[in-house]
Amino acid sequence: MSETSPVLDVAVLGAGTVGSQVIRILGEQAEELAARSGARMRVASVLVRRLDAPRDVTIDPALLTTDPAQAIDGRDIVVELIGGIEPARTYVRRALDQGISVVTGNKALLAAHGPELYEAAAANGADLYYEAAVAGAVPVVYGLRESLAGDRITQVMGIVNGTTNFILDAMNSTGASYEQALEQAQKLGFAEADPTADVEGFDAAAKCAILASLAFHTRVGIEDVAVEGITSITADDMAQARETGQVIKLLAIAERHVTAEGTEGIIARVHPALIGADNPLSTVSGAFNAVAIDGEAAGRLMFYGQGAGGAPTASAVLSDLVAAAHHRAYGGHAPRESVYAQLPILEPGLAHTRYHMRIEVEDRVGVLAEVAGVCARYGVSIQSVNQRYDSADACTTITLVTHSGKESDLRAVVNDLKCCDAVRQVISTLRVEGE
Ligand code: HSE
Repeated sequence: MSETSPVLDVAVLGAGTVGSQVIRILGEQAEELAARSGARMRVASVLVRRLDAPRDVTIDPALLTTDPAQAIDGRDIVVELIGGIEPARTYVRRALDQGISVVTGNKALLAAHGPELYEAAAANGADLYYEAAVAGAVPVVYGLRESLAGDRITQVMGIVNGTTNFILDAMNSTGASYEQALEQAQKLGFAEADPTADVEGFDAAAKCAILASLAFHTRVGIEDVAVEGITSITADDMAQARETGQVIKLLAIAERHVTAEGTEGIIARVHPALIGADNPLSTVSGAFNAVAIDGEAAGRLMFYGQGAGGAPTASAVLSDLVAAAHHRAYGGHAPRESVYAQLPILEPGLAHTRYHMRIEVEDRVGVLAEVAGVCARYGVSIQSVNQRYDSADACTTITLVTHSGKESDLRAVVNDLKCCDAVRQVISTLRVEGE
């Protein structure tokens, strides 16, 4: 790297877990990063909420500011790591409108306002990079946007939320209840004090929307993703799953679907589901992430790694910084938003899945026939049925697994079962995926 290489001013917005690691690596590996990008990146400003807050790394106090204009204006690249919609959106717009390239890890912002930001980037000749927004260190954004640009993607299915994977994994391995596992995750720092965005599936839904947009060259927003979280999963559900050689995972699924009328569109959904032990996603433990992508030509590809944490997420941010710095110094730009396909977003009820239901029933003549009759009414085919009488509780439980059917028909079966005289309660309903 020559002494005359261009020097680029980088603003880092947010000096939390990820921001401080980005600043550390930018300092420690300055020479290598300069050799790879062809330009020297110098941290010129760091936007923080409090100047005197304790930090993971030492930052030159002269770089710290609480003034967004002072942090952003006139820089070459802005790294946005404050998260959430506002004020992140205003700051990112401020940068892009000045033609400053932006690297962000903000999935919520992209899933809610991606189109506006991509347009601002293109209009002003700036790059907008966001590898860190999905699955932390795992290069799945690059994989879809660039490595697989020549393929036709049929499905993306993944575990993209480490917090919920940690909780489900803890429930599975220790027999803990959801509440106990959440408390443990919070104690160990894997879950936030307010875990809503993770446990209700919203974080995964934002990532699902980003992956679906990239995979299908269509604008998919968080509002297009059907979401169910993990709060109703019980220790009993986990035990039942184990008994049948399965595990429960929170899955984000985006897929190409052709309706009975021949309309091709996209279905995007996030929900817990049973998957078999032979599915590679079943072995993703703790807070790790994994994404399986099916390409018509490539077949199935698996991406796996650390989906959160300071250094792993900083790795994704730095890869984007190297690319943005190279463009800044020598010309060229990041791939623009690709939305040429504009496939319609289809009703999640059209998705094909299988249901695993547990129902408590009366123990009398004709009950099984009644349950089977409800399935037949909606054209739902039964794969297996198991009835158990527990004399201690005088309680009969039917476990019924369906063949693949339309989600809306399977849901109708559950609703009708709830109204059957013979059915005391539907104990649980879980989808079965990945086969
Ligand atoms: N809350 C996220 C997770 C962090 O648990 O995966 C990374 O987006």
